[in-house]
Amino acid sequence: MASSMRVLGPFTTTSVGLGCMGLSIEGKPDEQTGIETIHTALDAGCRQLDTAWAYYESGGPEQTNERLVRAALESWKGPREEVLVATKVGHYRNFTDGKPTWAVDGRPESLIRHAKESAQALGVDTIDLLYFHRPDPQVPYRESLEAMESLVQEGVARTLGVSNANREQIDMAREVMGGDLVAVQNQFSPTFTSSRDELEYVSDLGLAFVCWSPLGGFRKAKDETKYDLFRKVAEDRGVSYQSVVLAWELAKSEHVFVIPGAHRASTIVDSLTAARLELSPEELAVLG
Ligand SMILES: NC(=O)c1ccc[n+]([C@@H]2O[C@H](COP(=O)([O-])OP(=O)(O)OC[C@H]3O[C@@H](n4cnc5c(N)ncnc54)[C@H](OP(=O)(O)O)[C@@H]3O)[C@@H](O)[C@H]2O)c1
Repeated sequence: MASSMRVLGPFTTTSVGLGCMGLSIEGKPDEQTGIETIHTALDAGCRQLDTAWAYYESGGPEQTNERLVRAALESWKGPREEVLVATKVGHYRNFTDGKPTWAVDGRPESLIRHAKESAQALGVDTIDLLYFHRPDPQVPYRESLEAMESLVQEGVARTLGVSNANREQIDMAREVMGGDLVAVQNQFSPTFTSSRDELEYVSDLGLAFVCWSPLGGFRKAKDETKYDLFRKVAEDRGVSYQSVVLAWELAKSEHVFVIPGAHRASTIVDSLTAARLELSPEELAVLG
């Protein structure tokens, strides 16, 4: 049976984490449902929570998701020290033509200020894993990376990751961050496979590859036909197609992690079962 725990830098954590974004951005559930969703995930054994400085509604108070994660952990009766909390800096929310958008700010002084605010909102001295959320075209990537590295030297972060990074950027992060770089978080799902090369590259390096929107996301319509084969395997197995998708991603390498989102407890409980769903070589060959 597949193990639900994997090694991520200095941490041993669950291969399936909870992506907390949807609990605090547009379309979010009420706060009590958010806390219950996180509690239920933790009670079901989840030991990885993914948040970000920028997970709040455009125009609303900043960092609401980091504060929600903190509130959930503080009111949870289980072992807090077992839970890896990852956050990110480099994005903030804005409006374009009146619609909520995601803007980037990779200036060193902004990254340093936001990381300190993240630690404060999470109620920790040192963030377990801090990602640079997205490259800022207005700022040389190396300068953003150097600011992130300085945060480890200052004790604000224990380990670092980069997100939405291509191969060249991953190599630059390795140069600047050395052993402090432990994870790359990029989009990967049946409807977004162009990062397969990065997944393989990162895995070969022994770094964690964390798939964001591993089910294709909830914010935009997706090509549902890409899930047909997963639905077929799921029907044969008597499980949800979403758990088959997550198990297929986890089967790509022992360095892969998934952080499915949930707006309710039942979806993350189902997603967590993917860690123990072992697909056969025949099924994997069909799924590609
Ligand atoms: N680094 C980045 O730039 C970046 C960007 C985007 C997202 N992320 C991270 O990735 C996480 C996940 O992304 P996401 O929420 O956009 O997309 P996702 O995980 O691909 O999809 C979430 C959607 O799938 C549904 N779902 C999840 N598990 C399910 C299950 N077992 N059965 C049925 N439905 C299920 C949820 O349903 P319900 O709504 O019914 O609960 C939700 O609508 C985010 O929370 C965030 O932490 C990172």
